[in-house]
Amino acid sequence: MVAQVIDGKAFAAKVRAQVADQVAKLKEENGITPGLAVVLVGEDPASQVYVRSKGKMTVEVGMNSYEHKLDVDTSEEDLLALIAKLNNDPAVHGILVQLPLPKHLNEDLVINSIDPAKDVDGFHISNVGLLGTGQKSMVPCTPLGCLMMLRDHHGSLSGMDAVVIGRSNIVGKPMAQLLLGDSCTVTIAHSRTKDLPDVVRRADIVVAAVGRPEMVPGDWIKEGATVIDVGINRIERDGKNKLVGDVDYASAAERAGAITPVPGGVGPMTIACLLANTLTACCRANSLPEPEGLTA
Ligand code: GUN
Repeated sequence: MVAQVIDGKAFAAKVRAQVADQVAKLKEENGITPGLAVVLVGEDPASQVYVRSKGKMTVEVGMNSYEHKLDVDTSEEDLLALIAKLNNDPAVHGILVQLPLPKHLNEDLVINSIDPAKDVDGFHISNVGLLGTGQKSMVPCTPLGCLMMLRDHHGSLSGMDAVVIGRSNIVGKPMAQLLLGDSCTVTIAHSRTKDLPDVVRRADIVVAAVGRPEMVPGDWIKEGATVIDVGINRIERDGKNKLVGDVDYASAAERAGAITPVPGGVGPMTIACLLANTLTACCRANSLPEPEGLTA
């Protein structure tokens, strides 16, 4: 079998276009412009690239973007004071604090100081609990993007066997909750899982989110399975820098029914879902109906 390639770049563009349409409608009918505040502490080069890209796309869909760039040695007190100000600002509907934070800042404390209704990352402990109990929450962007692609490809996921490889709070655990919410039978595999190849071979859906370059070979993939590769790993091959996923794409594509490439798969969906979450937060804050197809 030669896998269908799930084009995340095109899908993300479609999601952003839907968000832009809804934003235009909100402005016209309600006089409201959604606003996203992004807070960056320090000068981590990768984080700077992400934050710039988020700001650009926020403006492109017609939302207001508020960027707060703070010095690397900003105190916890000052950061918490800024978050308190954003929590109380009615023009700000979404708040994202770019991670990782410098070592002297307590990440959990900072994340949990964000108003859960504005927590567009879905990392606040309240949102984690709401998702885990099947209640309305803000859902982490990367797993939300994966879910959208899976729903688009399959329609219903009900009864499918899903294996999530990786148990991070940002991807693995929320992904498992979302798949469970769509009535999959879910296994979370990780570095201590026994017989990982056999566990993966049983899966109709494989979500790989471990951060290890090409660790899932094609012969672990069941014929016809759908493979969602969340990994973005920079490696050097033949003297060149290359981006690869957690799945060995070439061999997996020979067995899978559908597969996301790296780059151009899950990656572009993350920012698209951040914009979707900001729109959702804005609609909820104003007691307006939520945008269809853009939430879990
Ligand atoms: N750093 C890398 N990915 C993310 C993300 O999804 N959200 C935040 N806040 N920081 C990140």
